[in-house]
Amino acid sequence: MDSILVRGNGPLNGDIEIAGAKNACLALMPATLLSDEPLTLTNAPRLSDIKTMTALLASLGAEVSALQDGKVQAMSCHGEINPIADYDIVRKMRASNLVLGPLLARLGHAVVSLPGGCAIGARPMDLHTTALEALGAEIELKDGYLHAKVAGGRLKGAVHKMRFPSVGATENFLMAASLAKGTSVLENAAREPEIVDLADCLNKMGAQIEGAGTSRIEIQGVDRLHGATHPVVTDRIELGTFMLAPAICGGEVTCLGGKLSLVESFVEKLEAAGISVTETERGLTVKRNGDRVKAVDVVTEPFPGFPTDLQAQMMALLCTAEGTSVLEETIFENRFMHAPELIRMGAQIEVHGGHATVHGVDKLKGAPVMATDLRASVSLILAGLAAEGETVVSRVYHLDRGYEFIEQKLSGIGAHIERIKG
Ligand code: EPZ
Repeated sequence: MDSILVRGNGPLNGDIEIAGAKNACLALMPATLLSDEPLTLTNAPRLSDIKTMTALLASLGAEVSALQDGKVQAMSCHGEINPIADYDIVRKMRASNLVLGPLLARLGHAVVSLPGGCAIGARPMDLHTTALEALGAEIELKDGYLHAKVAGGRLKGAVHKMRFPSVGATENFLMAASLAKGTSVLENAAREPEIVDLADCLNKMGAQIEGAGTSRIEIQGVDRLHGATHPVVTDRIELGTFMLAPAICGGEVTCLGGKLSLVESFVEKLEAAGISVTETERGLTVKRNGDRVKAVDVVTEPFPGFPTDLQAQMMALLCTAEGTSVLEETIFENRFMHAPELIRMGAQIEVHGGHATVHGVDKLKGAPVMATDLRASVSLILAGLAAEGETVVSRVYHLDRGYEFIEQKLSGIGAHIERIKG
C-alpha cells in the first residue's frame, strides 16, 4: 500500500488547478441509465471512485469510455440493461446506490445491494427508499439487496417531504421523477451545488426540473430523455482543501476556477480566523501573512452551511490557532477519526460525541500517521505541510478516491510531498 511523505517547507505560493467535482460526477454518471442516447461529461475528475462507478455502469450494460486522459466520460446505455447492482462493486463505494432511481425509472424494477456502513457512520438508505416509494415503488430488503418494482412499470409523480435534506436521496428522487408520469414536488430537498449540477444536466437531456438549489424542487415527468454533453461543476471540497494549504503554511495561492458562491460559509470561517480570500476572474486567492491564525468555532450543516467534508481539514488548521476552537459535527456520527492522528503530531484535542475541542499549540511535529477515510487523510497531509520534520501518511488509497494528482498539485506551489510506493 502506498503512503505519502510530507515535510514542512514554509510558505506556499503559486496557482493550483481545481478539478471537476467527484460528488457531482458520481451523480451525473448514473443519469446515462435514463436514456438510450449518449451522455458525455467534460471536466471529469480522474479518481479511483470514478473508475468504480465506470465498472458498476458497465456491469449494468452501459458503455463508458474515458477520453482525453480521463477528463471526458463518454457514456451510452442503448442495449440490454442488467437491473442488478452487485454487492461486490457496491460495497466499494456508497455512491453506487445512485443507480437505484435511474434503473427504477428506466426499467420499472431494480435490485441494488445495500452498501453497508462506513468509517464515518451507519449511513442507512431509508430516505432514498421512502422517497422512491412516494413515487409508487414497492421496495423490499432481501439478502442484503433492495428489490424495487413499480406496478404498471412506470413511476407516478407525487409530493414528498424529506425528514432530512439528504444529498443522495435528493439525487435519486430527481433522476426517478424525471421519467415519472405527472408532476412531482420534493420538499426539504438538499441544496448542494452538486444537486444543481445534476438538475442542469437532466434538463439538457430534456427533463423539466425547477427549483434545484432551493428546498423545494418541482419536476414535470417526461416520456423519454435524450442525449447531452455537460461540464462537471468545480469540486468545492477540493477547492476548500487547497485553500487551507496557504492558510496553514502561510503564503499566497490562487485556486484556479474557484468561485466564492461554492464555499461562502467556509470562507466566512477562514476570514474570522484571519485569512484573506479574494475572488478574481482566475479564481480564489488565499493569503496569510505571518500572523498566527485565530481560533474559530465551526458547526457542520447541509449546504449552504459549513460542509462536513471540510471539517477534518479545518481541524488541521485550528490545531495551531491562537486559542481554543470547538467543532461540532452534525451530519455524521463518527467523523473525528483524524483527531487521534493529529494528537500523534502534538495537537491538543478532546472529542466528546459530536464535539471536538481544539486547544491551539505553537507547532505540530511530524510523525507516522494513518488515514481512516478520504477527508481525514487529506487533513493529515495538510497538518504535515506545516509540521516540523517528516510526516508519513499510510493507507492513502483513501486519498486517491477524492484527490487527483495531489502530490504534483501541492509540489507546484512549493510543498515538499512525495509518494512512497507500497
Ligand atoms: C454525500 O453523501 C457526499 N457523497 C458525502 O461526501 C457528503 O459528506 C454528504 O453528501 C453530506 O454532504 C457523495 O455525494 C457521493 P446524505 P450522502 O445522504 O448522499 C443520513 C466525501 O467525503 N441519511 O446527505 O451519502 C446519513 O447517514 C463524502 O466526499 C439517513 O439517515 O449523504 C448522514 O448522517 C463523504 N438516511 C446524513 O443523512 C438516508 O437514507 C447525510 O447523508 C440517507 C442519509
